[in-house]
Amino acid sequence: MNETATLTLDNKAFPLNVIVGTEGEKAVDIRNLRSDSGYVTYDEGFGNTGSCQSAVTFIDGEAGILRYRGYPIEQLAEYSSFIETAFLIINGELPLPAQRKRFSQLLTENAPIHSGMEHLFEGFPAEAHPMAILSAMLNTLGSYYPRLATNDHQRDLEKYEDASAIIISKVRTLAAYSYRASRGLPYIHPRRDLPYCENFLHMMFSTPYEPYIALPEVAQALNLFLLLHADHEQNCSTSTVRMVASSGANLFASAAAGVCALWGPLHGGANTAVIEMLESIHAEGDDGTKFIEQAKLGKADKRLMGFGHRVYKHYDPRAKIIKESFYSALASLGIKNDPLLDIAMRLEAAALKDEYFLARKLYPNVDFYSGLIMRAIGIPVNMFTVMFAIGRMPGWIANWKEVAANRKGRIYRPRQIYVGANLRDYVPPHQRK
Ligand code: CMC
Repeated sequence: MNETATLTLDNKAFPLNVIVGTEGEKAVDIRNLRSDSGYVTYDEGFGNTGSCQSAVTFIDGEAGILRYRGYPIEQLAEYSSFIETAFLIINGELPLPAQRKRFSQLLTENAPIHSGMEHLFEGFPAEAHPMAILSAMLNTLGSYYPRLATNDHQRDLEKYEDASAIIISKVRTLAAYSYRASRGLPYIHPRRDLPYCENFLHMMFSTPYEPYIALPEVAQALNLFLLLHADHEQNCSTSTVRMVASSGANLFASAAAGVCALWGPLHGGANTAVIEMLESIHAEGDDGTKFIEQAKLGKADKRLMGFGHRVYKHYDPRAKIIKESFYSALASLGIKNDPLLDIAMRLEAAALKDEYFLARKLYPNVDFYSGLIMRAIGIPVNMFTVMFAIGRMPGWIANWKEVAANRKGRIYRPRQIYVGANLRDYVPPHQRK
């Protein structure tokens, strides 16, 4: 028998169905609550709100579990690659050999961007942030494929395979070009013979006279970084993608909105904020002790960046994997005695035994180490969040598809509790005080 909850309001009982997910997660279904009772629920920040049913990613934040399409992140990190995992997330199953080959071909064919787009980069000022460029360019990309970006979900879904491959492939070209443009460097075109990560590093760091050959360890570290970021259920940027998609918007526009949402320091911008925090601690001659004390005062501008998570109340499983791989990457790159790394280790050790952090279940999240990895492999700090965006693209695409394919779906349109002024009459300018 289906479980039911009962809510009593104004002495009237309202039975509410309970929905149970495939991992036993329970939710009270309030979809008819307003029409039945006149009440809405209030949940600022959506910490208690299931906004959709999704089959992409499962997280158990209390137990530190993360699975893409049912596969544990630990297994994917060990045996899979970013591109295979991207296929899994986008299409729901691991690819058969022929599907994997076709996906690779589509990615290779779609790596170059239209020469008209190259000229667009010139319109950005020199100090433009690569995240601003990336979001603008992703939206623009759709205008080069009008038949794939019709804003008619049924028609756009017919071209889903092409559209998703175009975005996965071109996002790295656009990202690398945004970096080259911001440095006034000539664009380096993609190569057909290089795998995904090596090709990206080539477009970032080769010069017209000297090809950049990525060390296998560097390409592997990047591959792991992207794989670990490939999806993370209903976070701020993915929810934004779904919100935009729910209006009927195409995949390109929805992904561009995801980039904007990712940019902020509480979300994808945290990897940049971690390095800036470590640099400022170092510049002040602090070993981290003073900073920890300030972070405990609870001020928003002095948080220990890279710590805490809305969902994980346990060690973030991605942080555990990235931390383990970090040391082998450092060893193969010959990096020793990095003062920022020393500070990071001291901060982590101090926080993990401090009552303030323990009581609030604040553990390192993926961004605590991902910035250090990016830095070690030579990615400039203002590109860190762009790297996150490249990694998160499969998740945004899969979530866009769930919204687009849901014929019963409704536009995302929350309610609010109005707390502004009550009714009052217009005051002409000369009577205003
Ligand atoms: N340093 C110090 N105190 C913290 C921190 C932190 N990093 N994070 C949370 N707190 C405190 C916060 O002040 C509050 O204390 P109190 O109960 O005394 O008021 C308590 O812990 C709960 O915090 P919250 O702001 O209600 O938690 P949230 O779920 O709204 O925020 C978060 C989650 C990730 C935005 C937050 O932990 C944070 O700002 N962390 C630093 C930024 C960061 O690393 N972000 C990356 C997240 S992982 C990548 C991603 O998925 O986007």
